[in-house]
Amino acid sequence: MLRAVLASLVLIVALGLVTVWAVARPGSALDLPGRLAEMAAPRLQQFAAWYDAGPADGRPDWEEQSRLVLNGDPVAGRAVIDSHGCGTCHAIPGLPRANGSVGPSLAGLKDRSYIAGVLSNRPGELIDWLMDPPAFSPMTAMPDLGLTEAEARDAAAYLYAMDR
Ligand code: HEC
Repeated sequence: MLRAVLASLVLIVALGLVTVWAVARPGSALDLPGRLAEMAAPRLQQFAAWYDAGPADGRPDWEEQSRLVLNGDPVAGRAVIDSHGCGTCHAIPGLPRANGSVGPSLAGLKDRSYIAGVLSNRPGELIDWLMDPPAFSPMTAMPDLGLTEAEARDAAAYLYAMDR
């Protein structure tokens, strides 16, 4: 009797181990450790880039950092900002026709503590804001302009890199 119980216990544990291995082994459909590593990788990369860039003479060098941290392209971002009509609502340095006054001037944005008073002024938050402002500030007059993440990333790179 005891033997039978022990034998079934061993069998159950063995089956359990086999199942866990089948599900979690690298390369399986549910490769959990692999997925976690995949999810963490871009964040770790961003952090490493940020850390490596370091502050230049005590102030962040946004031109350099916006490329590194955001993997964004300020030149493409300028085009995104131009084509989405941001300048009808905002004054934006470097864009001659961008002189709107519905929203705040975006000059000196990089020196502000908050984005629209609700998000910390950091690259990731700025990208989030540009993709869907009402999600963070339901009453805001700034609409969701349908920017993709890549477009928001480039636009953020421009906003941090531009001269005030
Ligand atoms: C219809 C007008 C309108 C358009 C178009 C618009 N915005 Fe805005 N934006 C606003 C308003 C209004 C605010 C202030 C939001 C608040 O405080 O709730 C704002 C806030 C912001 C902020 C935060 C500024 C700060 O000082 O905190 C940024 C950055 C920004 N907009 C960028 C953009 C970009 C980039 C585009 C184009 C992709 C754009 N906006 C298009 C109206 C607009």
